Amino acid sequence: MKCKVCRAHAVVDIRRHNAAFCQDHFVDHVNSQVAKAIKEFKMVTAEDRLLVAVSGGKDSLAVWDILMNLGYDTTGFYLDLGIGGYSGRSKEAAVAFADSRGVKLIVRSLREEHGFSVPELSTLTGRVPCSGCGLNKRYEFNRAALEEGFDVLVTGHNLDDEVATLFGNVLGWNTQMLGRQRPVLEERVVSAGAARAFVRKIKPLIRIAERETAAYALIRGIDYIVEECPMVEGNTQHRYKEALTLLEEASPGTKHRMYFGFLKNVSDRFAEDRGATELIPCAGCGAPTVASGAHATGELMCSFCKTKALAQARRAEREDATGRGVKRR
Ligand code: FES
Ligand code: ZN
Ligand code: ZN
Repeated sequence: MKCKVCRAHAVVDIRRHNAAFCQDHFVDHVNSQVAKAIKEFKMVTAEDRLLVAVSGGKDSLAVWDILMNLGYDTTGFYLDLGIGGYSGRSKEAAVAFADSRGVKLIVRSLREEHGFSVPELSTLTGRVPCSGCGLNKRYEFNRAALEEGFDVLVTGHNLDDEVATLFGNVLGWNTQMLGRQRPVLEERVVSAGAARAFVRKIKPLIRIAERETAAYALIRGIDYIVEECPMVEGNTQHRYKEALTLLEEASPGTKHRMYFGFLKNVSDRFAEDRGATELIPCAGCGAPTVASGAHATGELMCSFCKTKALAQARRAEREDATGRGVKRR
């Protein structure tokens, strides 16, 4: 197996491109694929300040590294979800990467900000951990980007992530999610002329497969956290990835064809389902929320505030019950 560019010994082969690369040319290839995605989907301008959401895993650290290579103004953001030792180790990986590159990493903790971790939230609300995890991340990433004055929020979603999400959305014919599944989500405001409510969100790794970000991180000496989140059990997205990987092995390029074919030929057909919904400020926190589904008080609360209120109410009930138990004894 020889490098497509220099004919030296190749270390990575990419069957869907029918190409193999030596270490240096693989790094060049990945950087140019990301530059191509950024250009094709007009993700950023040279002046934008980018906040990169990092988990300590290979994808988010790789995308941060690539964006720095491409000359963008980047800062990292790590949200501590309080998932036992796993969160501690993933934070260490993110901090070590930022230190090794001499770049700024903003660290916030869910428990310090809101009083609960992802496992506690799951126990209190009775919902699967991933649902609370996703809700918290979306909310906190956007809040941090707005508060710290960033133009764009970057996430490390790769081709495998996006095609698995697409597959799930098609299986359930979730037309609203199909309409919103774009590599760029433009910024939104609550009303004309108002300050930004949602920052622009971009996914520059859409042309890169998961095994390629792992190879990239290895070659670039990025010490990422390899272990998976211990709460991943039962996550259907993982099942979709396994199924799609079987199809990819049988026919290289399947994932790319499905995802990019969708963006090119199908996505706009769901434009109306994207929800050109009106945004209004949440009565609880002021964050933007869609103007539907009024809260019991008649005021509108965002999903985050509703979930937080539920968790706090359940916690108070439990503490109350425990207190009564202690008194009886
Ligand atoms: Fe879902 Fe970690 S909470 S994978
Ligand atoms: Zn080469
Ligand atoms: Zn709110």
